[in-house]
Amino acid sequence: MLDKTKRGWHKSAVFYQIYPKSFQDTNGDGVGDLRGVISRLDYLQQLGIDGIWLSPVFASPQKDNGYDISDYCAIDPMFGPMEDMEELIAQAKARGISIIMDLVLNHSSDQHPWFREAVKSKDNPYHDYYVWRDGEPGCPPNDMRATFGGSAWTYVPHLGQYYFHQFVPEQPDLNWENEDMRRGLYGFIRFWVEKGVEGFRLDVIDQIAKEPDRRITANGPRLHEFLRELSREAFCEEGIVTVGEAWGADVERAKLYSAPDGSELSMVFQFEHIELDHEPGKSKWEAIPLPLPAFKACMERWQHGLHGKGWNSLFMDNHDLPRIVSRWGDDGEHRVRSAKMLAIMLHGMEGTPYIYQGEELGMTNVRLPLDAYQDVEILNLYDERRAAGESHDEVMERIYARGRDNARTPMQWTAGENAGFTTGTPWLPVNPNHVQINADAALADPDSVFYTYQRLIALRKEHAVIREGSFTLLCPEDERVFAYTRDLGDAHLLVAANFTAEPVPFARPAAFDGAKTLIANDGDPADGLRPYEAYMLYIEG
Ligand code: GLC
Ligand code: CA
Repeated sequence: MLDKTKRGWHKSAVFYQIYPKSFQDTNGDGVGDLRGVISRLDYLQQLGIDGIWLSPVFASPQKDNGYDISDYCAIDPMFGPMEDMEELIAQAKARGISIIMDLVLNHSSDQHPWFREAVKSKDNPYHDYYVWRDGEPGCPPNDMRATFGGSAWTYVPHLGQYYFHQFVPEQPDLNWENEDMRRGLYGFIRFWVEKGVEGFRLDVIDQIAKEPDRRITANGPRLHEFLRELSREAFCEEGIVTVGEAWGADVERAKLYSAPDGSELSMVFQFEHIELDHEPGKSKWEAIPLPLPAFKACMERWQHGLHGKGWNSLFMDNHDLPRIVSRWGDDGEHRVRSAKMLAIMLHGMEGTPYIYQGEELGMTNVRLPLDAYQDVEILNLYDERRAAGESHDEVMERIYARGRDNARTPMQWTAGENAGFTTGTPWLPVNPNHVQINADAALADPDSVFYTYQRLIALRKEHAVIREGSFTLLCPEDERVFAYTRDLGDAHLLVAANFTAEPVPFARPAAFDGAKTLIANDGDPADGLRPYEAYMLYIEG
């Protein structure tokens, strides 16, 4: 077990993200709950993870599935009582698993008591906790758009003012310029630290220092000042792990966020690699195939940029992204092979890996009828694109490829009814392929994707070169193969992965003649790489 009282334990750790609504229901209401998470801790322990990033379980009207919080110190009754949260923290800890909660500090729900006070009058003490500008109806302060569509400004007639929201109107942005507001947030965080929570994921943290008059959302001038204060005041214990979601982070900014002196956060989720497979300058809905050389160059830049100077997280999946095996692998004939290939490719790098629920089973995207989708982003996209003249089928293709509900269909535990997720009606349909793809089947099959992840987690603990070795990219221009080496003193690692369904040539460096195969998805390596083949070789000397 890792010593979690010391700063830096996350550098040896692997985390698992749970989207509680979709993980395991225990009371038949069709919505996952905390008792469900508790009931699956043995499974997670078997996988070998060190911590759970739990997507929001706080009290919320659920306009954005809990990313709209109405009480930061209460559990939403849908997930269970506070006692269940306390029990989860304790039972997880007993298995060496830390709980990392998901803090939404950029905005609250419009039902949060702060906002309910703030709208009462301009001189209410909470008014300035949010971002307001005077204005006339129909004439917002500027034309900034909200992330999920529509204007970023909503008018409140009796105040003669607009409030600013980067997401839906029910998610008003908090005003970080207000010190009392900031102190209030720190108090909420301390509440959870005292309950035994060992870390936090910080939702869209790069957007807190917004300056809407200058159209600044991410990376505002005071961002790092605010983060240092937050870290000082709220994350006082050395062992608290923090990971900031930062779509706007580049390597230089990530060095600040994850400075080794611990003055800001432990690490960031950056998205440069995630944004390569859509048309440059356009939105994620304009999908293109992944340009492999650009992807490799991006990963190399991050591996080099943060080596010894900061710390990165490693991920391909989360609750906002389509399933990786459908996205960069092959969710048909080569599903198992390609899911393992992607895992081996990523888990050989430096950083803290995050596995998203179901990724370890090779869960895939889903195609649902329009009226089954729940995500506000999907529903808004549909209306906007239809109004702009796209056909129903065209918009549906975008949703199948990129919609967030791909990741949010219930966890597939069994081949039985509702995949063992619920005895009721699931809040979002279960993927029909649960009959083949499920945890029961994976655990019973020694060649399943599950055991690849289990082995990769174990390898990270066994081999310092995986945790700390320097990174060298091989064959950067190759459009089909991703290969790299890692070196630490006498220890050398080679990772090679074929991103295509064709056999491809690959010349293994001679230094790896006689190397030991740590993991492979197609037996011992031969010449070249078979379709979606991947392996990790190790040699000393
Ligand atoms: C983050 C979350 C996403 C949410 C948004 C607004 O990007 O991951 O799910 O909708 O922030 O809080
Ligand atoms: Ca439930």
